[in-house]
Amino acid sequence: MAKDYCVLGIESSCDETGVALVQMQGDALPVLLADALYSQIEMHQAYGGVVPELASRDHIRRVLPLTEQVLAASGRTLLDVDVVAFTRGPGLAGALLVGAGVACALGAALGKPVLGVHHLEGHLLSPFLSADPPEFPFVALLVSGGHTQLMRVDGVGRYTLLGETIDDAAGEAFDKSAKLLGLNYPGGPALSQLAEQGDPTAFKLPRPLLKSGTLDFSFAGLKTAVMVQAKKLAAAQDGRVEALPRQVLADLAASTQAAIVEVLVKKSLTALSQTELKRLVVAGGVGANRCLRAQLNAACAQRGVRVHYPELHLCTDNGAMIAMAAAMRLQSGQQAASEVYAFDVRPRWPLAELPVAA
Ligand code: KG4
Ligand code: ZN
Repeated sequence: MAKDYCVLGIESSCDETGVALVQMQGDALPVLLADALYSQIEMHQAYGGVVPELASRDHIRRVLPLTEQVLAASGRTLLDVDVVAFTRGPGLAGALLVGAGVACALGAALGKPVLGVHHLEGHLLSPFLSADPPEFPFVALLVSGGHTQLMRVDGVGRYTLLGETIDDAAGEAFDKSAKLLGLNYPGGPALSQLAEQGDPTAFKLPRPLLKSGTLDFSFAGLKTAVMVQAKKLAAAQDGRVEALPRQVLADLAASTQAAIVEVLVKKSLTALSQTELKRLVVAGGVGANRCLRAQLNAACAQRGVRVHYPELHLCTDNGAMIAMAAAMRLQSGQQAASEVYAFDVRPRWPLAELPVAA
């Protein structure tokens, strides 16, 4: 593709509205011109988790002002947009419909094609926006709130699943354990912050499926173990976990984080040795975890493996990764759809169902 293209990306699959503009020039790696994000976290905190209907309504409020913000920051106008990309799934149906509706309306009004992007592909390709982009092939550890997968990635759309969680995702394990410790939603960042003051060896917690010989994960049992431990400790406080001394809570948080991180690191190393690849890409919200990054960096350095991460602010949901994934798909030959007056979203959408890029 010789022409310069501007791709507008819209993310609205869960509780962040993200919009970004990416520019592609021939086969060079696309570059981010501007991005803007609105996080609904504060709104959902009162309920202890995401309320889907509130999420959809808030996406409606934010998406157009964010689009204007992105265009202004990049010195472009809507007329400069060549392709409009949106998150087609997986995610909350109502929330996805907002992004899809706005993207398809913009496409129809501007006479420009639209492209529905897989949210996980967005996460997976987000490290290509970093100052240290990876090269194919690599092993990917995709760790978000809803998914935990190890993949062999040979190119855009060329993904081989090596292992995945059979129950809770790693992010879910962080979130649910945090809730048990009385921490606020979203629990991952809160638990890891508390863990900084704790002793990771204070409590013996299970490392599920660590020795299973497979690359699958299971985190549901860990959450139960945290619950049992918290209840035991809280028995002396009339069962009130939040009344436990802060140091005890920090020790339990650190022990929980250590269990999750150890499983993620060991399985990633096994995937690397099985595939004989020397490159690891970590993507998704849990990829922001400092303990995970430190342990992966140390273990990979020892084995001569390069590790790539998205920029910290692009670990969690954002529009830049959606615009980037769309741009990389266009570069690899996928066509965006023109004249889309009917659209659909895929709240459940296995990555394996994505077409292989040309
Ligand atoms: O990728 P993401 O933004 O959304 C999904 O696609 O699910 O991931 C959100 C998940 C949440 O479970 C959140 O608690 C977790 O990522 N997370 C973290 C950290 N930052 C976000 N988990 C552990 N440590 C963090 N620093
Ligand atoms: Zn995500």
